[in-house]
Amino acid sequence: MTSSQQQIDVSYSVSNEFFELWLDTNMHYTCGSWLRGDETLEEAQENKIGILADYAEVTPDSLVLDIGCGWGSALEYLVRDRGVKEAHGITLSTAQLDWVHARELPGVHAWLQDYATYEPERKYDALVSIEMIDHLCSPRQARDGKAVEIYRAYFDKLASWVEPGGMFGFQAILSDRMPRRRKDIEDLAFTADVIFPGGRNPRLEELVMAVRPSWEILELRMQREDYGRTTAEWLRRMRQHEDHIRATWGDALFDDYERYLDTCVRGFAAQWIGDVQMKLRRC
Ligand SMILES: C[S@@+](CC[C@H](N)C(=O)[O-])C[C@H]1O[C@@H](n2cnc3c(N)ncnc32)[C@H](O)[C@@H]1O
Repeated sequence: MTSSQQQIDVSYSVSNEFFELWLDTNMHYTCGSWLRGDETLEEAQENKIGILADYAEVTPDSLVLDIGCGWGSALEYLVRDRGVKEAHGITLSTAQLDWVHARELPGVHAWLQDYATYEPERKYDALVSIEMIDHLCSPRQARDGKAVEIYRAYFDKLASWVEPGGMFGFQAILSDRMPRRRKDIEDLAFTADVIFPGGRNPRLEELVMAVRPSWEILELRMQREDYGRTTAEWLRRMRQHEDHIRATWGDALFDDYERYLDTCVRGFAAQWIGDVQMKLRRC
C-alpha cells in the first residue's frame, strides 16, 4: 500500500507556482548536500544529484530511471550535465508531470505511474530514487509490523528492472528519536497527517534489512544537518513571499507550510529525523 493518488495530490499538487516560490530554481523537493559548507541551495542540490548519479554509475549511454521524479530536477541534471541520452521518470502527481513535460527536455520521458504496477519494456542500466520511499508505508502499517516487508517489496521490484550488477543511487528521509514534549509530538504528527498524508519516514535499520536479498549496500552517507539547512532555506524563501502566498492561496496554506517547515528545521536539529544516501548494487 502506498500513498494514494489523492494523498499525493495533497502533498505535491497544491500549485506548481507555490513551490516555485521557495524551492531552488530546479525544483528539487529533497535534501541538498553541502560538501564545502558555503554552497547556495542551488549548488547543494546539484551536489546531491551528482552524488546519487555517481552512486548509480551513470554514463551518457546509461538508460536511467528516476522513481518518484518530482518536477524533473534530477532528470534535467542527467540529460544536461551528465549527457545522458535517455532518462525516464515516474511520479504519482499530475501537477509534477505537467511540469516535467513543460521542461521539454530532450531524451526525457516521464509518466504518471505507480512504481508498484510499472512494467518497463527494457532493463535499466541505472536507477535513482530520492525520498520517494517515505510514501510507501503508513504509520498504521508500521505499527502492525509491516514496514520491512513493504520496503523490501519496493527494493525487490526495482531490482527486477536492472541486471545483476546494476547500480542504484537511493536517498530517504529517516525517523530517529521521538521528541518528548507534547507540542513537538503534535507538530510531527501534523506534518505527517496534513502535509504528507499516508506517508512515514523509515528507520535506518529497516532499510538495511529491506535492501536484502536484492541489493548490497556499497556506501552509506548520512546528511541530517544538511536537511536542517535545506528546510531552513525553504522556510526563509517562503517567508519572503508571505503576503503573496496569503493573498493567492489563503492564510491556512501559509500557516500550515510555515508550521511544517519550522518543525522540520527543529526536527533535524534535535535528531528526530535524518537523511541517508546509499549506493546499492543489484545482487
Ligand atoms: C518528496 S517527492 C521527491 C521528488 C524528487 N525525487 C525530488 O528529489 O525532488 C516524492 C516523489 O515520489 C513520488 N511518488 C510517491 N509515491 C509514488 C509511487 N508509488 N510511485 C511513483 N512515484 C511515487 C511523488 O509523486 C513525488 O514525485
